[in-house]
Amino acid sequence: MRALQIDHFGDLDVLALVDVPEPHPAGDEVLVRVIASAVNPVDDKTREGAIGEGTPPVPMTLGWELAGVVVQAGTSGLPTGERVFGMSHQLATGRGTWADLVAIPAASIARAPSSVSLVEAATLPLPGLTAWQTLDWLQVGQGDKLLVAGAAGAVGGLAVQLARARGAQVDALVSRQAQIEVVRELGADHATTDRTTLRAGAYDAVFDTFGAFVTDAVADGGRYASIATQAGPVPDLSHRRVATTVNQVREDGNGLAELAAAVDSGRLRIRVGAQYAVHSAKAAHEHFRRGRLTGKIALVF
Ligand SMILES: NC(=O)c1ccc[n+]([C@@H]2O[C@H](COP(=O)([O-])OP(=O)(O)OC[C@H]3O[C@@H](n4cnc5c(N)ncnc54)[C@H](OP(=O)(O)O)[C@@H]3O)[C@@H](O)[C@H]2O)c1
Repeated sequence: MRALQIDHFGDLDVLALVDVPEPHPAGDEVLVRVIASAVNPVDDKTREGAIGEGTPPVPMTLGWELAGVVVQAGTSGLPTGERVFGMSHQLATGRGTWADLVAIPAASIARAPSSVSLVEAATLPLPGLTAWQTLDWLQVGQGDKLLVAGAAGAVGGLAVQLARARGAQVDALVSRQAQIEVVRELGADHATTDRTTLRAGAYDAVFDTFGAFVTDAVADGGRYASIATQAGPVPDLSHRRVATTVNQVREDGNGLAELAAAVDSGRLRIRVGAQYAVHSAKAAHEHFRRGRLTGKIALVF
């Protein structure tokens, strides 16, 4: 079967579509025939060797998310042929999803949303779970005032929609004028490119996707979560009784089921910017790295 692997770190030329043995699923795993996956910032950093300590050994298959059909169900109870989607913590396990077949724990997948294609579904697991779990940590609920920094990005755009669905009022910090209309359509009330206009202490919670560290914006006693691991820790705000974290996404089949339900009920819209066949992975990455994305870059197997 085919897998997109690297055997050393470097620029895009190190990405190679190679022939590897098919995986043998363990008892708690499901064998999935992958229809699509997607490119995420972490894949780029891993390939470049920018993650450092904790990177799995080479050769490794890259990729964190998948959508496909069940080939061997193991003990999962899922029917063969079921449409599923899932997230694999590639850095923690070395189990990449950019392959024709992936053996993945049943607890890390869920039935894919029925109202979208598997290509669309494949772009949701990593940013969707990141948004969902970080909103949980921030305890975002009815009537809360939330600021999302980087709100037009993959994680940010989902966070805006999911927070609105929880009844929060959501404002957005974005990088350029063109993104203001985008995040308003996703449900943001107020959107700005200018962090100096953010009112001090105006937010119960701040969801920071790029290391903005707009800590003045959070109210005393509030919550501040960053997901920008490589930007370092959030400054200590304990003197203002603000809880802080750099949140790390976890595999979570139940969370994926919640996301699928949100998609199928129309509360969550998936944005795909472009799709590429897996043998054009280099072109997909070049597109990804040019930035100014309007949605995620899908890889189709
Ligand atoms: N901790 C975790 O578990 C976890 C999980 C998922 C992702 N992440 C990390 O979270 C980050 C976001 O991921 P993503 O998939 O959402 O990436 P993304 O789609 O590239 O989104 C990042 C967003 O931040 C915006 N941005 C960047 N710099 C900005 C600035 N100075 N001012 C305003 N906006 C700015 C970008 O705007 P432009 O389009 O203009 O650049 C883009 O809209 C990445 O670093 C990723 O590695 C962490």
